Amino acid sequence: MDTTRLAGKHVLITGAAQGMGAAVGEHYAAQGAKVCLGDINVDGVAEVAERIRAAGGEATHIELDVTKQDDAEAAVQHTVEQFGSINVLLNNAGINKPMWFLDVTKDNYDKIMGVNAWGKLNVMQAAARQMVKQGKQDYPYKIINVGSILSRETFIDVVVYGMTQHAILALIKGGSKALVEFNITVNGYAPGVVRTEMWEQLDRDLVEMGMFEKHGESMDSIAENMILMKRYSYPEDIVGTASFLASSESDYMTGQLLMIDGGMVIH
Ligand SMILES: NC(=O)c1ccc[n+]([C@@H]2O[C@H](COP(=O)([O-])OP(=O)(O)OC[C@H]3O[C@@H](n4cnc5c(N)ncnc54)[C@H](O)[C@@H]3O)[C@@H](O)[C@H]2O)c1
Repeated sequence: MDTTRLAGKHVLITGAAQGMGAAVGEHYAAQGAKVCLGDINVDGVAEVAERIRAAGGEATHIELDVTKQDDAEAAVQHTVEQFGSINVLLNNAGINKPMWFLDVTKDNYDKIMGVNAWGKLNVMQAAARQMVKQGKQDYPYKIINVGSILSRETFIDVVVYGMTQHAILALIKGGSKALVEFNITVNGYAPGVVRTEMWEQLDRDLVEMGMFEKHGESMDSIAENMILMKRYSYPEDIVGTASFLASSESDYMTGQLLMIDGGMVIH
C-alpha cells in the first residue's frame, strides 16, 4: 500500500462508527490522510479513531447527527481545529427500513429522507462553506457522496430508500455544478450489496416481511440471481474506489457516481 497516496488530505467522514464508513476511515488513514470520524454512535467512532491511532495513523472523532445543522458545523470546525483545514468530505451516513409501497408511512419517509438526503445536503453545505472560506488551493476540494445501486434503480420493498438514493445522485449533479467555481468537485460511489450491519438488519426485516424464509437467504439469493460476479461484497471491496475519489488521481472528475456493485446495475 502507498502510505503517502492521501498525504495532505484532511477528511471528515460521516457515519464512521461501523461498516463502510469505519473501513474507509482506516483505509484513508493508512494511506496518510488525517481523518475526523463523526457518528451518532460516539463510542463507536471513538473506538475506530483509537484503532487508527494504534496502527500509526492520525484520527479524531466527534458526535455528529447529520440531520442537525449545528452538529454539521461543529464537525467541520472540529476537523479544521485538529488538522488546520478540511479538504475532503466523505458523506457516508445512511439508514434504511424496508416497507411495501402501500404500507410506507410518513414517519418512515421522514426518517430515511431526513438522514440520507437532507443529512447529505446539510453536511455538504457546512463543509463547502468552510472550503469556500479557506480559498482556492492548487488541487480541488472533494466532496464524495455515498449512493447506492438504488440511485439508478429501485425495488418495491425499499422505495423510500430508493427515493433518497436518487436524491443523492441529484446532489452530486447539482453540487458539482454549484460548487465548481470554488474548486470543489462532487462525486460519489454506489455500492450494491455490502455485508455490514445495515444489510444484516435489512435481511432480518425482509424475513419478517415474508420475502425470504431464513436469515442470510436474501444476500445469497441476490448474489446468485442479480449480481454478475455472483457474490455480494464486504467493505474491503469498496475502500479502493473510495480512496481513488479522495486522491489526486480523480482531480479531473466531477458530477460522477461510480458503480461498485459487482455488476448489478449497468447503464
Ligand atoms: N450495506 C450496503 O449494502 C449498502 C449498499 C449501498 C449503499 N450503502 C450506503 O453506504 C453507507 C454506509 O452503509 P453501511 O452499510 O456501512 O451502514 P452501517 O449501518 O453499517 O453504518 C452506518 C453508520 O451511520 C451511522 N448513522 C446513522 N444515522 C446517522 C445520523 N443521523 N448521523 C450520523 N451518523 C448516523 C450509524 O450509527 C452507523 O455507524 C450508507 O449511506 C448506506 O446507505 C450501503
